[in-house]
Amino acid sequence: MASDAHPEIELSSIKTFPVHVAIVMDGNGRWAKNKGLSRSEGHRAGGEALDRLLDFVVTLPIPFFSLYAFSTENWKRPVSEVQALWDLMNEFFEKRVDHCIQKGIKIRASGDVSKLPLLNRKVLKRVIKKTENCSHLTVNFCLNYGSRDEILHAAEKIMQERLEFYKNGQKNKAEESITEEEFEKYLYTHPIPPVDLFLRPGGEKRISNFLLWQSAYAELYFTDKLFPDFDQNEMLKALAWFEGRDRRYGSLSE
Ligand code: IPE
Ligand code: IPE
Ligand code: MG
Repeated sequence: MASDAHPEIELSSIKTFPVHVAIVMDGNGRWAKNKGLSRSEGHRAGGEALDRLLDFVVTLPIPFFSLYAFSTENWKRPVSEVQALWDLMNEFFEKRVDHCIQKGIKIRASGDVSKLPLLNRKVLKRVIKKTENCSHLTVNFCLNYGSRDEILHAAEKIMQERLEFYKNGQKNKAEESITEEEFEKYLYTHPIPPVDLFLRPGGEKRISNFLLWQSAYAELYFTDKLFPDFDQNEMLKALAWFEGRDRRYGSLSE
């Protein structure tokens, strides 16, 4: 139901859609606290909100959707909360995989997934494999993801490659300068295009180490709605707002 303050937006009124939407799924803890529930219950409600959101996004002409699910900094939380998050993730994937295949949702991951608990790595590998031929919507789960880590990882890979060229006597190749295109090949998100619309529910107006390189020209949308309450109408509001942006990329308006 639409509230008076936020009349429902008609999907048919939106003509231009972003290619890549990224969302910081923030505010689960505060949502739970407001209701006198545990933080884990907040994360569970976040999972349910994600379920509903994916069912909506898959109906839109949006090919890429990145989700910030666990940051490189989230390990600082109590072990019990970290474990609850990984358990929920396994449950989410196990429960959703057939539905994803049916809807044409391809699951992929970005981040240093080698540090995930063994069972999570196994489950993730399985859903990635099972959904690899789905082509409607790519959902990019960012797990143990941090942009600084990603950028250092890319720099290291390029350094190793240059060293190999040296070892093979290819001095010219070893000394070539690094282009943006080359660098991007080593980002965890490759070959997903740059972020067009960066969403952050939860009230914070910060990036928190999410897709820094990829969001260089993203439109940033912040809302106080907590992630478990971020529904279809909230998504439509963000998309309607996005359509109104004048994206100049440093140039001038048409
Ligand atoms: C979810 O929200 C973010 C994850 C790490 C999954 P939070 O747990 O950060 O919720 P708040 O910010 O404490 O409300
Ligand atoms: C960002 O939210 C990480 C995820 C949503 C996975 P946080 O709650 O960890 O970010 P900060 O600590 O408020 O910056
Ligand atoms: Mg938070």
